[in-house]
Amino acid sequence: MKILVVGYGSIGKRHVTNLLENTKSEIIICTKRKDFKFSNRNVKIVNSLNEALKEKPTIGFITNETAYHIPTAIKLAKAGLDLFIEKPLSNSTKEIKTLQKIVKEKKLIVQMGFHMRFHKCIIKIHELLEKKKVGRVISGQVENGSYLPDWHPYEDYRKGYAAKNSLGGGIVLTQIHEIDYLYWFFGNPRTIYSVTGKFSDLETPVDDYSSSIMKFKKNITTEMHLDFFLGYEYKRCKIKGTKGIIFWNSVYNEVKFFDAKKKSWKTILKLKKFERNDMYVDEMKYFMNCVKKRKKPMNGLDEGIDTMKIALNIIKSGKTKKIIDVK
Ligand SMILES: NC(=O)c1ccc[n+]([C@@H]2O[C@H](COP(=O)([O-])OP(=O)(O)OC[C@H]3O[C@@H](n4cnc5c(N)ncnc54)[C@H](OP(=O)(O)O)[C@@H]3O)[C@@H](O)[C@H]2O)c1
Repeated sequence: MKILVVGYGSIGKRHVTNLLENTKSEIIICTKRKDFKFSNRNVKIVNSLNEALKEKPTIGFITNETAYHIPTAIKLAKAGLDLFIEKPLSNSTKEIKTLQKIVKEKKLIVQMGFHMRFHKCIIKIHELLEKKKVGRVISGQVENGSYLPDWHPYEDYRKGYAAKNSLGGGIVLTQIHEIDYLYWFFGNPRTIYSVTGKFSDLETPVDDYSSSIMKFKKNITTEMHLDFFLGYEYKRCKIKGTKGIIFWNSVYNEVKFFDAKKKSWKTILKLKKFERNDMYVDEMKYFMNCVKKRKKPMNGLDEGIDTMKIALNIIKSGKTKKIIDVK
């Protein structure tokens, strides 16, 4: 099997390594860099999509800057490739319908790169919610904090895509993971209100802080805090219902349950060892299996469109200072 990986930055490298270690595929890397060499005979380097498509790959991993995902996806979809598209789908709804049409006509398998759906604690929370462990869900609080200059210590953070609006950067689009797992838990929000903007001293014009209240069906309300100006990485999710509370954070990586009747906490899942890359390997294997079985992934193109639209509405609410009623 030939797999094309478009964009050889931080996530492109991760996927190439994982594919080489876990599959028997030949890899074609499409990169802008001309001086780039790779000493593995299963890997070929090319500098343009046309050159890459001549190699007749059947699967494409789109791992370039956010603003280029859709034009790249359209070109690869036209050539009949199944697609793994890194999150977020894009930074605008431009050409989305074109992509949808080609994918439908050619019956392509498309999966979005939302690795948090492969985090064992998030999977467990999803499972507990499905089993109504907390009774009727009333509210959720989620957080994702980190420090942008720590993301790629080898480069000037001001030059990366995350620090540039034109490339689809900013906190909401870049850390869209919490939006995606809330969407996985509760579906599309009906109402969104957000304070989103540039608040810190980071030397970038993009939004670096976002605090959003979203109202979902069944009267579920969530508060979501995203930022990338903190000096450390911290994620958490707390869901409150009529029968108790589910809690997880990225420091302890355990899912705890507070039983409202017994008035006590119990650990439901504790990860003995947490290897970040395991999520990416699991998501890649899940995608390859969907391709093999021609099965629609749980987080396909439609889900990618929905979550991108939620992110864009959050940004819009932040700009207009208005509550957005999602149609
Ligand atoms: N799911 C996840 O956990 C996850 C994590 C990270 C990123 N992402 C998503 O993946 C996309 C890419 O993010 P990224 O973190 O991989 O961005 P990145 O490291 O900044 O890479 C983006 C692009 O910059 C170019 N580049 C990177 N290093 C370079 C170098 N040393 N010299 C010249 N060019 C270089 C590469 O283009 P060429 O190869 O064409 O030269 C690469 O495709 C974004 O949409 C992001 O949201 C997802």
